[in-house]
Amino acid sequence: MKPVLVSGIQPTGKLHIGNYLGALKNFVDLQNTGKFQCFFFVADLHSLTEEFDPKEKPKQVENLILDFLAAGIDLKKSVLFVQSAIPAHSELAWVLNTITPLGELRRMTQLKEKTGEEYETTNVGLFDYPVLMAADILIYNPKFVPVGEDQLQHLELTRTLARKFNSKFGNTFFEPKPLLTEIPRLMSLDDPTKKMSKSRPEGCLFLDDESGMIRKKIMRAVTDSGTEVRADWEQKPAVTNLMRIYSAMSGKSISQIEERFKEKGYGEFKKELAEIVVQGLAPFQKKKEELGKKRAAIMKQIATGNKKANAIASKKLMEAKKKIGLV
Ligand code: TRP
Repeated sequence: MKPVLVSGIQPTGKLHIGNYLGALKNFVDLQNTGKFQCFFFVADLHSLTEEFDPKEKPKQVENLILDFLAAGIDLKKSVLFVQSAIPAHSELAWVLNTITPLGELRRMTQLKEKTGEEYETTNVGLFDYPVLMAADILIYNPKFVPVGEDQLQHLELTRTLARKFNSKFGNTFFEPKPLLTEIPRLMSLDDPTKKMSKSRPEGCLFLDDESGMIRKKIMRAVTDSGTEVRADWEQKPAVTNLMRIYSAMSGKSISQIEERFKEKGYGEFKKELAEIVVQGLAPFQKKKEELGKKRAAIMKQIATGNKKANAIASKKLMEAKKKIGLV
């Protein structure tokens, strides 16, 4: 049996190139190695912890499914499913809640970032987010979980909970290892001190942006003083960020890019970067448009994915329930 690998993405709106380079592209590459049994899912239950409009939620879920498929997730090779269609995730999360110390959750950096000053009014779902994530993972007995650096702390908790459950109730869960995505965080085009994020749309390159919009955003991106296209996070954070996007989209190294633009200025560099991003996203966008025309058929295939995931997850849940004396 090939080792299992599992990961999820929240449906909270449009994906940007950072999400693509940091998660989706990596998922597709892992799938295509043929070395793993891959499970990917839409983490819709997690997404309820942020403000949302119930009318938008089904569209967000569908859109993310199309993103997965347009990026190259192949339903013949991977199981793609929707978290809320697998009740065993939530049930296992409850069981894991009962062995999770409050202090472990209070320490979570992402919780602190997301709650800010408003600790008392924060929804408990946000607090408990890492435990549901642990359940998402442990229920498939994976060896590996591809995640970005921001999720490492959650994965560490997952491992802790697996160990704790096993030692309390008998060997049940495997302790999975993170597969860290190498792509670093991209910064906003209009302010290189801020992370690229959908909350700053002017500085964010969305996967669905039309070519005209991509060109406009890149040509308007802030640059630094001087004229040289040279990577230097201290002196030239804006240009360095653009070079990083160029590098990630083209496969060229930073020094190759420096060499290429040695005698040229920012204008020429930006023009070429815009074309690289436009062309880099074109196959994805074309495929997504085609998939968009077959929504009903795709949702049927997802129902099959849900079924497969359900079969595995409910079996594992039953095993855990037996261990704790509930069945
Ligand atoms: N918390 C993850 C993120 O925001 C999404 C997620 C939910 C996830 N459950 C997971 C990732 C299980 C990996 C495995 O990126």
